[in-house]
Amino acid sequence: MRRVGDTEGVDVEIFKDWGDPGGGLYYLGKYGHVLSGIAWIGLLYFFNFVQVPAFAEMGADARGEALRKVTWRALWWFRWAAFATFLTGVLMIAILGEDFKADTAGGLGLYFGVILATTMFLNVWGVIWRNQKINIGSANAVAAGGAADPNAPLAAKKAARASRANTLFSIPMLFFMLFSSHWGFHYDEPSGGTGAVAWIIFLVIWAFVEASALGFIGGLDSPFNKQVFDDHRNTLAAGAIFWLVLLFIVFELVIGS
Ligand code: HEM
Repeated sequence: MRRVGDTEGVDVEIFKDWGDPGGGLYYLGKYGHVLSGIAWIGLLYFFNFVQVPAFAEMGADARGEALRKVTWRALWWFRWAAFATFLTGVLMIAILGEDFKADTAGGLGLYFGVILATTMFLNVWGVIWRNQKINIGSANAVAAGGAADPNAPLAAKKAARASRANTLFSIPMLFFMLFSSHWGFHYDEPSGGTGAVAWIIFLVIWAFVEASALGFIGGLDSPFNKQVFDDHRNTLAAGAIFWLVLLFIVFELVIGS
């Protein structure tokens, strides 16, 4: 046991091997990553499971006020938490360097998680925030006695679709974000063939959901979008299906153990 004042042989563990994959910077980065990740996804779930159904029950005046006072503040934390999550994720990838690769089942799963999360990050800044600015700007104009922006309803719909796509993606995303460190080693290394099949299944579903949410496949009110995105319970069910396909078809069946 070390006595008080006995500094011989003291080395600060968190600063040892600072920049290595198993070192302090990686661990602190991961801590910051998970902390900002829960802030981001917690607010995403608040918007989808609480705010959207509540807004549907509110009158225009109350909704306008809530947009200006609640949503506006929540969106600040939401988009900057997303930014911090992305930045710390990129930091970990930079530290991993050549260790960040998809040649093991765990690595492949982490790639899937990172692609989903990066898509979500781009949806936050490129679609949700861009369009909510228009929507909230309109509520501000009305509150100041002016006219509503005629572009606001379409902007709100675009933001809502991207937000639901993010909710869907979050279900498989977190599972595969944790996968390489905690579960992926149970499976075989993907070979050229099984790896290719795995990538095709993942990329087809991912691209279809994202393109559909952006309105590129039959518009924002396509049958798929209405079925999967109008009700948040269906969004969660679709996210669970995507997750189950990846777990049982891609990893259990195609890659195997
Ligand atoms: C925005 C893009 C993102 C990128 C580029 C990214 C990247 C990464 C990387 C490289 C790791 C390290 C994996 C490992 O050491 O096993 C990681 C871990 C983790 N990420 Fe993300 N991530 C992103 C978003 C998210 C989001 C939105 C969440 C949601 C909470 C999240 C939650 C986690 C968690 C909990 C871990 C720890 C895994 C473990 O137990 O080791 N990440 N992420």
